[in-house]
Amino acid sequence: MFEANVYRARRRELRKSIKTGIILLPGHAESPMNYAENTYPFRQDSTFLYYIGVNRPGLWAMMDIEENQTTIFGREPTVDDVIWSGLQPTLGELRECTGADRACDVADLADILSAMISEKREVHILPPYRAETRQALERLLILSKGQVSTKYSEELIRAMVAQRSVKEARELAEIESALTITHEMYRVAMQSVQEGKYEREIAGLAEGIAISGGGRLAYPCILTKHGQVLHNHNYHRRLESGDLIVQDTGAAAVSGYASDITRTYPVSGIFSSRQREIYQAVLDALTDALSGIQPGRPFQICHLIAARTLTSRLQQIGLMRGDPDESVAAGAHALFFPHGLGHMMGLDVHDMENLGEDLVGYDDQIQRSRQFGLCALRFGRSPAPGFVLTVEPGCYFIGPLMDHWRSEKRHEAFINYEALAAWRNFGGVRIEENIVVTPEGYRILGPPIPRTITEVETACGG
Ligand code: GLY
Ligand code: MN
Ligand code: MN
Repeated sequence: MFEANVYRARRRELRKSIKTGIILLPGHAESPMNYAENTYPFRQDSTFLYYIGVNRPGLWAMMDIEENQTTIFGREPTVDDVIWSGLQPTLGELRECTGADRACDVADLADILSAMISEKREVHILPPYRAETRQALERLLILSKGQVSTKYSEELIRAMVAQRSVKEARELAEIESALTITHEMYRVAMQSVQEGKYEREIAGLAEGIAISGGGRLAYPCILTKHGQVLHNHNYHRRLESGDLIVQDTGAAAVSGYASDITRTYPVSGIFSSRQREIYQAVLDALTDALSGIQPGRPFQICHLIAARTLTSRLQQIGLMRGDPDESVAAGAHALFFPHGLGHMMGLDVHDMENLGEDLVGYDDQIQRSRQFGLCALRFGRSPAPGFVLTVEPGCYFIGPLMDHWRSEKRHEAFINYEALAAWRNFGGVRIEENIVVTPEGYRILGPPIPRTITEVETACGG
């Protein structure tokens, strides 16, 4: 974690936007995998990490705005804790490292909150996304079942989103340290890929590097020759010479900061001519989308730039037709590119998504589209300097979607369904970079990972 004054300063900043009441921040409890003592790897809630910093289970924090006091709640370690889990911080040590004013036993939290509720103090909470947190909030705030999901403070969410959207230099350094590990994950994966291996062998190498880096994966690994299945978490397939792998893996740093990179590469080390065409189309879409990034310019426009470039390349290949601008406006490209261009990234790979996708990614100027494809864009508003975003166009050949659209004759004026039949088993291509928005435009974060056709083929030993 950072020094105590970092968390103190962040809480001070938050207090400028929230003028009254108390802010209650639940840390995570351990989450059992199959019985109580066998838990998933512990991951602290990101809001708690941002304002309090301690990556340990069983903690709560309370910020009293009027009193200008932060209290951390935990419990003193017992001899049993030390026997099974080693030395644990005392309440005093927790207070010190977080810069809190007080540290109390978590057993007292219910009584303290109950007194505040009787005094009609306003309690700001965030929407819970884990069942155990929801239940604890219901119990502590004396709310009936389900009520807690509607009692969240939009004022608090807006203040946190505004603060956390602009990354501090120390946060960028953490993201770049995650990207350095990610760079190694791709170097080794591309070097190791070969016919006869199984997807799981390459996935295991990548995940092992994330763990050796001190953190772990920022999200479940995607490493598949069926890249048309967007969140494919299966790794059981044998790699054959003509296959194309979509690898979407990001390391999380020890501090929890994420990276989120995708590369697509050929098992044989050399792209076939078809693979080359689609890869270059996606690469051009990425290049054009990046050149559109500017502070104050809606990211939704960059998404549409990527869609326009992809459409025009697919027209050259003979898979699309018609006026490219009309085609993009109609959303015909979403047959091939059904997801968004990118999202915010920070402590969470989809940063702050637990606070509400639209409150993070949209505002009064830019509202989320309802059109298939564009509606999947998680972040559409104008970024400011310091925003960290992913930029990740893709092109996929999704058989069931192609069948569905064709049966409806959807966008027949723009899609050449006859020609498409021969591409059914192509798979998919995605290329994903992580950027920080600067006053002039953007900067790609992390060490360069092979991206052009030549770079990728060289890295794969082709
Ligand atoms: N890795 C998940 C994503 O790219 O959004
Ligand atoms: Mn990704
Ligand atoms: Mn992403």
